[in-house]
Amino acid sequence: MCGIVGYVGHQASLPVLMAGLKRLEYRGYDSAGVAIVDEVGGIHTAKKAGKLQVLADQLTIEALGEGHTGIAHTRWATHGGPTDLNAHPHLADGGKLALIHNGIIENYQALAEALRADGIDCISETDSEVAAHLVAKEYRDTGDLTEALRQSANQLHGAFTLLVTHQDQPGLVVGARRNSPLVVGLGEGENFLASDVSAFVEHTQRAVALGQDQVVTITPEGISVTDFDGNVVHPEEFTVDWDASAAEKGGWSSFMAKEISEQPEAVANTLRSRITPEGHIDIPELAKVVADTQITRVVFIACGTAAYSAMLGAYAMEKWAHIPASVELSHEFRYRDAVIDAHTLVVSVSQSGETMDTLMAVRHAAEAGATTVSICNTQGATIPRESTATLYTHAGPEVAVASTKAFSAQVVATYLLALAFGEARGALSAAERAELAEALLAAPDQMAEMVQTGERIHELAHWMADTHSVLYLGRHVGYPIALEGALKLKELAYIHAEGFAAGELKHGPIALIEPGQIVFVVVPSPRDPRSLHSKVVSNIQEIRARGARVIALAERGDAAVLPFADEVIALPPAHTFVEPLLAVIPLHLFGMELAMAKGLDVDQPRNLAKSVTVE
Ligand code: F6R
Repeated sequence: MCGIVGYVGHQASLPVLMAGLKRLEYRGYDSAGVAIVDEVGGIHTAKKAGKLQVLADQLTIEALGEGHTGIAHTRWATHGGPTDLNAHPHLADGGKLALIHNGIIENYQALAEALRADGIDCISETDSEVAAHLVAKEYRDTGDLTEALRQSANQLHGAFTLLVTHQDQPGLVVGARRNSPLVVGLGEGENFLASDVSAFVEHTQRAVALGQDQVVTITPEGISVTDFDGNVVHPEEFTVDWDASAAEKGGWSSFMAKEISEQPEAVANTLRSRITPEGHIDIPELAKVVADTQITRVVFIACGTAAYSAMLGAYAMEKWAHIPASVELSHEFRYRDAVIDAHTLVVSVSQSGETMDTLMAVRHAAEAGATTVSICNTQGATIPRESTATLYTHAGPEVAVASTKAFSAQVVATYLLALAFGEARGALSAAERAELAEALLAAPDQMAEMVQTGERIHELAHWMADTHSVLYLGRHVGYPIALEGALKLKELAYIHAEGFAAGELKHGPIALIEPGQIVFVVVPSPRDPRSLHSKVVSNIQEIRARGARVIALAERGDAAVLPFADEVIALPPAHTFVEPLLAVIPLHLFGMELAMAKGLDVDQPRNLAKSVTVE
């Protein structure tokens, strides 16, 4: 939530900052602003409610100058509505100091009162402005911007990444972080600060992630990092393993369309070199955890789409490794006194690695003595850094706010973890492992076939453009896919949608079925030995008898569903655990196409932000 960028160097900072903000807009898009410090002691600011383009339309280098130092912000409002006044930067010290903030300052009211007693009034409704006045006050006392930010940070409670710049200090930007992300980009004669690396990757792939409670000062010549007590810290450098073109639309109409089509690649990249055709799992970063025979239980924690991928991981963990596994929403897990101990493995699944609910749950698990594994798509993010071990997904940068390719990559990452335990504990025979390896390695090609359903889904979505409610049914591995299909439709097309376990239908939801109700059904393969197929076909008959219009996602050649389905989307025959990776693609496409049919912005749906860094 909220994207921030800072720059010092040899380039005019405005274009660098605006390009960086553009890449961070997924983090919040209700207002944006920029502050530029020039070399002759001037500071120039502009901020505007609305998407970044609204600000961009009114900015010119002539108005803001060619200063080589600056900070910029794109906002997802928490305190105070999305207005020009509440947009960042916030100014203090008579307009000489500018500050931007990502997070929530919990004690802002007490601080605002103290400032008022000193004759300093805030003019916005935000929690952030107090931080600007606080830093200005400390700066007046110390004359040192880094020290001023350090002292201010020590007075703040909550979550914050703060960047400050001052007109008396051209060539200097200072940042601080607690519970919100901040990465440093290391350039040649220039340095960058940002919420994530996408903001500066076109300039440099060398980066440093700031740790919890640290302050960083950047100048064109270098960076220096300390903790909040002023002790020098030497953070580790890493190289971003993708380049700027990966975060471009590359001819697609939207990032959403591009990312849905990239799902086969995301899965192939996540599996690459980690599983042999014989089903041997080779993931050195997990070796210690997987060898830990004290682990008797696995709890997956995640939110939203990531939690649906975790459900599949839990099914796989029980089936392949015979370890009891469950899934909890991070925000529920954290506050419900879950019983966890040194025998529990807590696996967080998070694309961003910054989701506050999940981060808090990971910390809670670690405090209770659990081993923690992070499944994450973002190098250098907070959750992997705070976990015992990390299994990175390699989906590449996901820019569209609603998650698609990261989901598929998360699913196979949870499978790899389950297989690794299955192998280590001897729960799988060599033949079973080889069969699973073959199935997983074949998945990307089969997923590519599903991407080809785009045209048919486009027609379906246009046919249904004025529908008000869509239901999704699935069973076993189809159930998380039903939930995911429904979530995508809600968030992209703003249509009421619910996903149900097909077996649950008769326990209540069937009352929703009336003539014309559209229901997507994820149908298990007729080859499934547990007769789940016939059970789901019976469910289809039950809803059809009550007038539902059924769209079945069924295995190619499945004759049993044909008489009862209004539409069939055919899936290539696949292993049970690969079926969800296939079925999810038409459902992602459907959410996107229906939103497009309604003329909505599929990359930046209303009220959302990609990285939810507040609880
Ligand atoms: C839905 C979606 C969200 C995220 C959730 C967790 O399309 O993207 O539900 O899955 O906010 O985000 P991460 O994975 O970053 O922790």
